[in-house]
Amino acid sequence: MSLLEKVANLAKRRGFVYPSSEIYGGIAGMWDFGPLGAELTRNIKNEYWKTMVRERDDVVGIDASIIMNPRVWEASGHTEAFSDPLVDCKKCKKRFRADHIVDDFGTLDPSDFVGLVNEVYADPNTKPKCLECGGDLTEPRQFNLLVETFLGSVEGAKEKAYLRGEITQGVHTNFKQILDSTRVKIPFGVAQIGKAFRNEITPGGFIFRCREFEQMELQYYVKPDKKASQKTFEEWKEKRLQWYLDFGFSKKNLRFKEHAPDELVHYAQAAFDIEYNLEGEWKEMEGVHHRGDWDLRRHQEYSKKDMTYYDEETKEKYLPYIIETSAGVGRVALFALCEAYHEEKLKEGEKNDDTRVVLKLHPKLAPYKVAVFPLLANKPELVTLAKKIYNDLRGSFMVAWDERGNVGKRYRAQDEIGTPFCVTVDFESLEGKDVTVRNRDTMKQERVLIAELSSYIQLKLS
Ligand code: GAP
Repeated sequence: MSLLEKVANLAKRRGFVYPSSEIYGGIAGMWDFGPLGAELTRNIKNEYWKTMVRERDDVVGIDASIIMNPRVWEASGHTEAFSDPLVDCKKCKKRFRADHIVDDFGTLDPSDFVGLVNEVYADPNTKPKCLECGGDLTEPRQFNLLVETFLGSVEGAKEKAYLRGEITQGVHTNFKQILDSTRVKIPFGVAQIGKAFRNEITPGGFIFRCREFEQMELQYYVKPDKKASQKTFEEWKEKRLQWYLDFGFSKKNLRFKEHAPDELVHYAQAAFDIEYNLEGEWKEMEGVHHRGDWDLRRHQEYSKKDMTYYDEETKEKYLPYIIETSAGVGRVALFALCEAYHEEKLKEGEKNDDTRVVLKLHPKLAPYKVAVFPLLANKPELVTLAKKIYNDLRGSFMVAWDERGNVGKRYRAQDEIGTPFCVTVDFESLEGKDVTVRNRDTMKQERVLIAELSSYIQLKLS
C-alpha cells in the first residue's frame, strides 16, 4: 500500500477526512474534514495567521466574499485564460487533462511544456491513448475552470456569477479601501484565508486536487522596481519554505520548482512552487508568484477607478508590484499527515511482530495536545481525579479523554492521531499528587506533579 493510501485510510478511520455526501455516493473533488481534520486544519490556519499577520507590523488580514461582481473575473483574466487542456476518450468517454497524460508518458520537458503537449498530440506517432482503455483521444480543448452559479429568485432573470477561482481578487479589489481605512504604507501585505472553487477536470490524489478547497494567501505590495521586487520575491520564497521547516517538515522533502516561461499562469511574471516529496513524486504545496502590477492595472482599466498608490516619501503615484504566496490548506494538511506518518517496529520486550502507527505531527498542529486516562475505568476515585485534571487542562489545551480498554491500547489510539502527551492517573496519584506523562515520540514516561502538569505541557509544546 502506498503512503498516500495508508494516510487516506487512517484519515477516514480516525475522523480526519470523509468523502463528501458519501451516503449518496459522494461527489468528485469534494471532501469533508471530520472532528480531527477540522482541528488539524484550524491549527494550520491559526499558525499561518499568527506568523503572517499577528506577528508582523507590515501585514493586515481581510476576509472577502466568495461571490463577487462577475466583472472582477473578466478584469483578472480568469474568464479568458483560467483554463486547462482536456481530452476525452472516444471509446470509454473518460476525461483527462491533456498535459497530465503527456506527463504520465514520461515525455515532459518543462522548458517547452505547452508547445510540447500540442506537438505530442499533433503527431499520430506520439499522440497518447486513453490511460483506462487504450482508446483514441479527442484533440485537446481548453476548458475554463471557473465554477458558475446563478443569483436571484426570478426564473429567467437570474444573474450569472462565479464562485471565486482564487481568493486573491478580494484583496486587490479592496486595495484602495484598505489604504483609506488603515495606516499601511508600502511595502505592506494583505493576508487572507478562505475557500476557492475550480472545475478541475480530474480531481484526485485523495484531497490533493479538489473542486472546493481552502487557500491561505499573502498579497505583498511593493514599489514597482524590478530589482527590488525580485529581492522581496526571493525573501518571501525563503520565509515560506522556513515556515514548513518550523512546522516539522524535513528539508529533504521540500524543494522549489521554477515555472518555465510557457508554464506561467496569465498573471505571473515569475513563479516558484514549494513542492513536497511524496514517496519520490514531487507535488505542489504552495506557489510564490511575482504578479507584477497585473491585478491593479487590470482592475483600474475595467473599473475605471484609480488604483494607484501615492508614495508620501517620494511624492510619486504608481501601481505597486505584487508578490504573492498562496498555499492550499488541504494540501498542507495532507502533506503534514504524510510527513508525520510512521510505522515503527516495537522494541524487544514487547511483541516484536507488533507495529506501532504513530503520527509525529508537530505539537502545534496536532489535533489533541494531551490525552487523560484513569488507569482503571471502574475505580471511581481514579476517574474523579482524572476528570478533574481533564477539565483543568481543557482551559488551556485541546484534551482527549479515554477510559476504554487498557492503557497500552489507549496509547496506541492516541499515537495514531498524533497526540503528543498522555497522562495516566493511577493509585500513586491519589497519594503522591503526581501522574505518569508518556511522550508520543520517545514513548518515555515520567512522573509529574499534578500542580505542575499544565506548565510542564505548555513548556514541552512550545
Ligand atoms: N492566487 C494564486 C493561486 O491561486 P495556484 O497555484 O493556482 O495560485 C495556489 O494555487 C495553491 O492553492 C496551490 O499551491 C495549492 O496548494 C492550492 N490549490 C490550487 N488548486 C487546488 C485544488 N484544485 N485542490 C486543492 N488545492 C489547490
